[in-house]
Amino acid sequence: MKLRYLFFAVALFVVACSQSPDNLSTGIIPAPQQVTWGEGAFRMPRTLTYATDLAGQDKADLTAWMNRSAAGRFFLVPFVEAVEGDVPALRLRLSDEGAPESYRLDVAHSGITITAPDAAGLFYGLQSLAQLAEHSGKRIPAVTVEDAPRFAYRGFMLDVSRHFRDKEFVKRQLDLLARYKLNRFHWHLTDGAGWRIEIRKYPELTDFAAWRPYPCYTEWYYGDRHYCRRDDSAAEGGYYTQDEIREVVEYARALHITVIPEIEMPGHSEEVLATYPQLACSGKPYVDKDLCIGNEQTFEFLENVLSEVIELFPSEYIHIGGDEADKASWATCPRCRARMRHEGLKDVDELQSYLVHRVEIFLNSKGRRLLGWDEILQGGLAPDATVMSWRGLEGGIAAARAGHQAVMTPNNYCYLDYCQDDPTREPPAAAAFVTLEKAYSFDPAPDSLGAEAVPMILGVQGNLWCEHVSTGEHAEHMMWPRLMAIAEVGWSLPERKDYGDFHTRVLDAVAWMQERGYHPFDQKNAVGPRPESLEPVQCLSTGKPVIYHTPYSPKYAAAGDGSLTDGLRGDWNYGDQRWQGWLDTDVDLIVDLGESLFVKHIAADFMQGFYADIWMPRAVEISVSDDGGHYTTLATVKNDVPFDFRQDCYREFGWTGEARGRYIRLKALHNGHSGGWIFIDEIIVE
Ligand code: ACM
Repeated sequence: MKLRYLFFAVALFVVACSQSPDNLSTGIIPAPQQVTWGEGAFRMPRTLTYATDLAGQDKADLTAWMNRSAAGRFFLVPFVEAVEGDVPALRLRLSDEGAPESYRLDVAHSGITITAPDAAGLFYGLQSLAQLAEHSGKRIPAVTVEDAPRFAYRGFMLDVSRHFRDKEFVKRQLDLLARYKLNRFHWHLTDGAGWRIEIRKYPELTDFAAWRPYPCYTEWYYGDRHYCRRDDSAAEGGYYTQDEIREVVEYARALHITVIPEIEMPGHSEEVLATYPQLACSGKPYVDKDLCIGNEQTFEFLENVLSEVIELFPSEYIHIGGDEADKASWATCPRCRARMRHEGLKDVDELQSYLVHRVEIFLNSKGRRLLGWDEILQGGLAPDATVMSWRGLEGGIAAARAGHQAVMTPNNYCYLDYCQDDPTREPPAAAAFVTLEKAYSFDPAPDSLGAEAVPMILGVQGNLWCEHVSTGEHAEHMMWPRLMAIAEVGWSLPERKDYGDFHTRVLDAVAWMQERGYHPFDQKNAVGPRPESLEPVQCLSTGKPVIYHTPYSPKYAAAGDGSLTDGLRGDWNYGDQRWQGWLDTDVDLIVDLGESLFVKHIAADFMQGFYADIWMPRAVEISVSDDGGHYTTLATVKNDVPFDFRQDCYREFGWTGEARGRYIRLKALHNGHSGGWIFIDEIIVE
């Protein structure tokens, strides 16, 4: 026995030693461009002596990170600067060659050298070394990593309006963004749910518009959507003082991250209008959603706010929102109509475009550039504007083809408020899905965009909207590890990407984060697709025609008429082309089995998605008939899921017994809530 074990151990050892270097993994996220393994290894000492030719601020930034990395365990061992005469174990050298942010990392028996054309490249080389060292342990195999980003813009957006997060939370996330070579932090500072930045000229914004008498966004949203004064005993919310903003911007800068502020306009501005009703078309608080574009005071307000914002944020880009303007009040507002007449604007889209053009002129006059959500294309894009494409890729493609730059952040790949796994176990999320694999599969600039458009794609960004995200832990759960997928999409060349390998690296990275007190989604215990969706069904109804007494919505037709008997069950996501949907109606369906058959089970699955207005039917009546005229009711199955149950859920409405018939009828009764959907994935007859 013992001999057999010995033999096995020796065999394993031989296999391990003879492993081809090509099979070694660096463990680095995002995957580097080129990895060449060498001979021998570097043994990590207890402290790593280093020397750098960085000087001044760049050196101070590097040293600050090195000092913090010891406390936060962001590097395996502490750093110590080599004194004169010492041979440093790590050299960080500037060179004249290489693309911005690129680096070369050489690990040899005798020491480690990082070479880069700029301080950002040296920093990224150090981040790669940190991950490589954790992955390898104290003995790092000799290797050369040559690396550069695919895209210049690799971003993360955090919505702090719906739920406020303090500056310490933001800084903790910046540490991770930098580790994964993300270099833009887009700070969504204002929205209808709360204003979050101190503006000296308008103190009411942070004395009033930053506070709600509801701790939770959804309670506020489904409540009266009012604000309160900061000294109200029920006040919840918060804002960043200008000093705090400066602190975060500086912290980010030292991590080679640019902070891009977003000041929403002209929509998503309820909090401004509640504070300054004179900026609303109606002149009243709590009525309109958009700023009045006919009113010169609106421009005075925006320019005053932006002037202070520009003072605080050195970023080239200022994000002005521009998404989802309601535009309803403009059509009837005398001032907006006068503006349209005077400026020759044919509709409200052009009116919004007028505002964006004017704001762009203002920003350009201050040496800044305008960035906005893809709705700023409507009514004509401002000449120098950059588009952030969120409703799919189309906006970004249109902008790029028109010679504008674009950042790709399509919701179906990049929205981190979407659910990432089995929604019956996950914390609240928006009623849509982006798994780690889906985020990873994104290509912001496929060749199919054309040679003219591809260079206009600046990069990619993951967005965390926080309607459903009320705590810092929950925010981290939504961000990580999906932001690692966005990081790799933004940095690594498509040919270097491999989901299986990435997934392995992610599991290690998640454990690493957990050990440091972060709360990433526990990817190793992910459920993955809905189990029912993985196994095709074969039963008496499979392939049989369905007679639709109630036609399904063309918006959720799934695979059309054959969908409910095609043997394919739905995944978690009602938009997966397997779930069929009906809006505001009972659903009456008949399956024709072709001949009278003995049946013992009839059922269908339904789902409830509170935030998507998808409801369980009030009840499902199940009946059979031999002639298609007279039906015998077998069961009326009542719903037991409460209307206000907010977690997505799935349940079967079924009957089990003994019966005979050719026609099987299911009647799902709508729950009466206007605007409500019913979704069914498959009818099962056994
Ligand atoms: C957005 O999601 N409204 C940009």
